[in-house]
Amino acid sequence: MIENDLYLKALKGEAIPRYPVWLMRQAGRILPEYRAVRAKLSGFKELVETPHLAAEVTMQPVDILDVDAAILFSDILVVPDAMGLKYEMIEQRGPLFPETIRSSGDLNKLATNPDVSDRLSYVFEAIKITKKELVNRVPLIGFAGAPWTIFCYMVEGKGSKTFSEAKKMIYSNPDLAHDLLGRITDFTITYMREQQRAGVDALQLFDSWAGILGRAPYEEFGLRYIRKIAQALAGFPLTIFSKGAQASLVDMADLPCDAIGLDWNMEIESTRELVGESKTLQGNLDPCMLYAEKSTIERVTKNLLNSFKSPRHIVNLGHGVYPDVDVEHVKVLINTVKNYENKFR
Ligand code: CP3
Repeated sequence: MIENDLYLKALKGEAIPRYPVWLMRQAGRILPEYRAVRAKLSGFKELVETPHLAAEVTMQPVDILDVDAAILFSDILVVPDAMGLKYEMIEQRGPLFPETIRSSGDLNKLATNPDVSDRLSYVFEAIKITKKELVNRVPLIGFAGAPWTIFCYMVEGKGSKTFSEAKKMIYSNPDLAHDLLGRITDFTITYMREQQRAGVDALQLFDSWAGILGRAPYEEFGLRYIRKIAQALAGFPLTIFSKGAQASLVDMADLPCDAIGLDWNMEIESTRELVGESKTLQGNLDPCMLYAEKSTIERVTKNLLNSFKSPRHIVNLGHGVYPDVDVEHVKVLINTVKNYENKFR
């Protein structure tokens, strides 16, 4: 039994005395304690691939910020890496894949039948250590990138404003795109099941680049594969965060998942109308709002809480927290949520 199970209860729509709160990217550079661990290492990958250190930084926001859920410290890019496309994390710039997938011949760069439990053993080990260290204080969230977002990085090779190489492939060679998306999906299903076996209490799929596709292409190249993953995990607590996918919210209403993550452009009220009462909504404060004065942070957070009309809400940002935000400001957000009694207890 988990002591503070508000997050899991909110996912299932059960009565809760107050709304739970955690932040995307809570384990990371906002915390000086994280930067201290990171500074002693060769780089980001060493931290991700060293289970006891990944567990240590996973615990930091639980201890320091007192959030209602832990999220495993890792990265969505461990999936393409384990599939055979290695990434590097360049300081101050972000991820880089020296090799990319642009043609059917490039598929040979991928490993044939990669063994998920072996290649990503460091993730499962980090989960086991974290679960021990948590001693059931709060739930542990595992995660993966959604196939579309992973596809974007594998085709493009790095971050991009438009991901036009990835979009070029869906329009010029849809068969190849579906081949690659199918492989990512199969790998991700095994990966998420292994995270479950290692002990995570819930899972989240991050589709950070959903918003660059319109409604019809997102259905064909995005949601189709998310649906397959959600079906494979049926019954296990699952959140889908499709950033920028306003036009697709109505299509997401029947996904077999518990929660939908909202970015700050998605309105609570109209999203509720689109997706109905059978989903929990997670989000959706603008991460930049945390640059405001403390009194503003408190007021804006209360406005969000006041807009909730059911217990099916989890407070979060609409995207990851920015590294230069003052930790004291983050605490104002968290404490405002914790001091707010919900009307639906
Ligand atoms: O606290 C948590 O949320 C858990 C850890 C986590 C990280 N990345 C750690 C990280 C999670 C859930 C992710 C997901 C992730 N990674 C996404 C999806 C969510 C999103 O932000 O849209 C994406 C697109 C990535 C890919 C990625 N990883 C990029 C583009 C970058 C560079 C940009 C940046 O923020 O520096 C990363 C690096 C990364 N992943 C860092 C952290 C803490 C910073 C690297 C460092 O410490 O040097």
